[in-house]
Amino acid sequence: MSYWAIEIEAPSDRADWLAWTLAERLATAVEQQDQETLTRGPEDGVDLLIVRLEEAPTEEQLEETRGCLRDAGLEGAAIRTRRDDDDGWRLGWRAFFTPVEVAPGAVARPPWEPPAAGALDLVIDPGLAFGVGTHPTTRLAARALKGALDEAARAGRAPCRVLDQGCGSGILALLAAKMGHDALGVEIDDMATQSAAENLPLNGADEAGRLPGGGRARFEVGAEVPAGPFEVVVANIIAPVLIELAAPLRASCARTLILSGLLESQERAVLAEYPGWRVVGREAEEGSRAGDDWLGLTLRREGA
Ligand SMILES: C[S@@+](CC[C@H](N)C(=O)[O-])C[C@H]1O[C@@H](n2cnc3c(N)ncnc32)[C@H](O)[C@@H]1O
Repeated sequence: MSYWAIEIEAPSDRADWLAWTLAERLATAVEQQDQETLTRGPEDGVDLLIVRLEEAPTEEQLEETRGCLRDAGLEGAAIRTRRDDDDGWRLGWRAFFTPVEVAPGAVARPPWEPPAAGALDLVIDPGLAFGVGTHPTTRLAARALKGALDEAARAGRAPCRVLDQGCGSGILALLAAKMGHDALGVEIDDMATQSAAENLPLNGADEAGRLPGGGRARFEVGAEVPAGPFEVVVANIIAPVLIELAAPLRASCARTLILSGLLESQERAVLAEYPGWRVVGREAEEGSRAGDDWLGLTLRREGA
């Protein structure tokens, strides 16, 4: 089988953010090669980004790619496309996926690694979906989610209904379910939704999605936010989508809304769309555009 690739060379200080935006807007896997990856990037200070597609890129996908480059201030960058007859890259990423503590006491691991002793064990085979726990935005969301669910349990509000909008591999919904809650993951990309569903049995779920800890997880394809009420809603998606979905996310969330995937420079614009919600938690992680950190925000409905 052959695959297609769109390739772009980008300055290293903007490559991480660009890869993230491309993955979101084209809803596909993006490989990033630099001087530290197994296949080396082009030179010091320049990364190679490879957008993987199953079919030849369409004009809309190329226009979307040009839009991402404009947003990253790289409108002049060359875009190459090529056909790939070797699909070794499909497995190549596996070398980089090792167990990672996504939240205190919760470890995500690939199926071929043994579970960490004493940890809440999340088995994730991402396929082409986003979310193995290695990205800072996943960890920011996972930590905030675990904190909110621990608090709900202490206050006697558990088990909670939890919505994971943009669930990717299902990692956040599975975390909630393994903590004993009832989680629904919604994902615009049907291949990612399929990967999330395939992760259920890997985590010991029965046919109804019931997990050993007593919780449950289900996954649905969709771009709309389902009607609530959900006690906790988590969305790790790029800022423009957090803005676009603000009204339905606010409407479906009864108490705690966790937003991740935004940069510090986008915080004000995103929060402007969440009137009536107080910021009760805010954590930053380095690693995106130079000097612009990733943020995880926990919002609480006024009066809740
Ligand atoms: C950054 S990934 C997050 C995956 C996972 N929740 C995590 O934290 O690692 C964001 C996901 O949101 C999906 N997405 C984008 N817009 C969406 C929408 N309107 N509704 C549902 N999913 C969406 C993308 O396809 C992508 O898989």
